[in-house]
Amino acid sequence: MATAVIKNNFYNVSSIVLKPSTAIPTTVAMCSNFCPRISNRLPGPPISSFPTQPRLCVSANAFSSQATNATSKEELPSRIGFLGIGIMGSPMAQNLIKSGCDVTVWNRTKSKCDPLISLGAKYKSSPEEVAASCDVTFAVLAGPESAVDVACGKYGAANGLRPGKGYVDVSTVDGVTSKLISKHIKATGALFLEAPVSGSKKPAEDGQLIFLTAGDKPLYETVAPLLDIMGKSRFYLGDVGNGAAMKLVVNMIMGSMMASFSEGLILSEKVGLDPNVLVEVISQGAISAPMFSTKGPSMVQATYPTAFPLKHQQKDLRLALGLAESVSQPTPIAAAANELYKVAKSHGLNDQDFSAVIEALKTKLQSSEN
Ligand SMILES: NC(=O)c1ccc[n+]([C@@H]2O[C@H](COP(=O)([O-])OP(=O)(O)OC[C@H]3O[C@@H](n4cnc5c(N)ncnc54)[C@H](OP(=O)(O)O)[C@@H]3O)[C@@H](O)[C@H]2O)c1
Repeated sequence: MATAVIKNNFYNVSSIVLKPSTAIPTTVAMCSNFCPRISNRLPGPPISSFPTQPRLCVSANAFSSQATNATSKEELPSRIGFLGIGIMGSPMAQNLIKSGCDVTVWNRTKSKCDPLISLGAKYKSSPEEVAASCDVTFAVLAGPESAVDVACGKYGAANGLRPGKGYVDVSTVDGVTSKLISKHIKATGALFLEAPVSGSKKPAEDGQLIFLTAGDKPLYETVAPLLDIMGKSRFYLGDVGNGAAMKLVVNMIMGSMMASFSEGLILSEKVGLDPNVLVEVISQGAISAPMFSTKGPSMVQATYPTAFPLKHQQKDLRLALGLAESVSQPTPIAAAANELYKVAKSHGLNDQDFSAVIEALKTKLQSSEN
């Protein structure tokens, strides 16, 4: 049974009205009754450089009076582990630290932990040691292989877990991988939650991520206040695999949208239009999307500051195609988009932002002209 909780940071509550016809068919509550408790306990604002508006926590049930259970302050996990300090893990951990949480970090490349250590984080030299010293451990790894390695490998987190602890995997992986990790974690007696996120570097900095969780409901309830520090909303989707599937469907759509947008920008320029005007036109119409407005201008300039690495977008398309294959669902648009990202990867654009996929079209056009 799916549950959604939405945090409202701002006075403008009109933007978060949920209509019963579009909402998830169970409980939906905005910034449920634990918000005041978080603000009392956790003083720091998100790390965004943007000025934050005063917070107003509104408790409102859109179509159900049953709000998600919040964990009492006494039950909040006091020692939090964080594994994987990359583009996403770093700001997420930073927001927990700045909110007053006791955070212990580990990353394969240790130097990436240093800024967090200078903010007050503790450091342990293996996932096992982090998990052993913490109540709840979050992991934000590159993909299936690293998520399995860090959770279940030698010196992996599972070795440090035991009953009473929890493991929350935020990495974007496929359902099969998530279930494998869950099996290893649960064998230790600990609880497991998959919690991939929708949102990128900036939402991570701003504490505006969307968590797509599934797995042990008691752990979901325990970590809810922590998810609310790092995110603006959280969905509980039931069995392990559902969070992974939801995330892959979202990123399948996103990858296809970006590929299509890239084609439009290139085509507009080729027929003598100003692609900047195309970005403006799109921003005013029904296909307007923050992604187009944010990334369009830099794509026109052929610059791709990395928020979501292209290699991860291609990984997500690959995994989404596998998901579709598993249920014999045709996904021709996503399949075509995936090919474009593969071309971009072959041109060395792995670590550029995924909007650099437009370069693959330029290469194609150049080679077809020669
Ligand atoms: N960036 C986004 O916009 C975004 C948005 C939503 C979801 N996600 C997902 O979130 C996850 C992290 O993304 P990100 O953007 O933060 O990626 P990233 O910057 O590339 O970070 C990847 C992390 O995984 C670690 N890692 C990679 N291979 C490893 C291995 N074999 N063993 C141990 N650690 C390993 C890296 O360690 P090193 O530092 O040592 O390389 C790093 O900490 C991915 O699953 C991604 O799909 C990303």
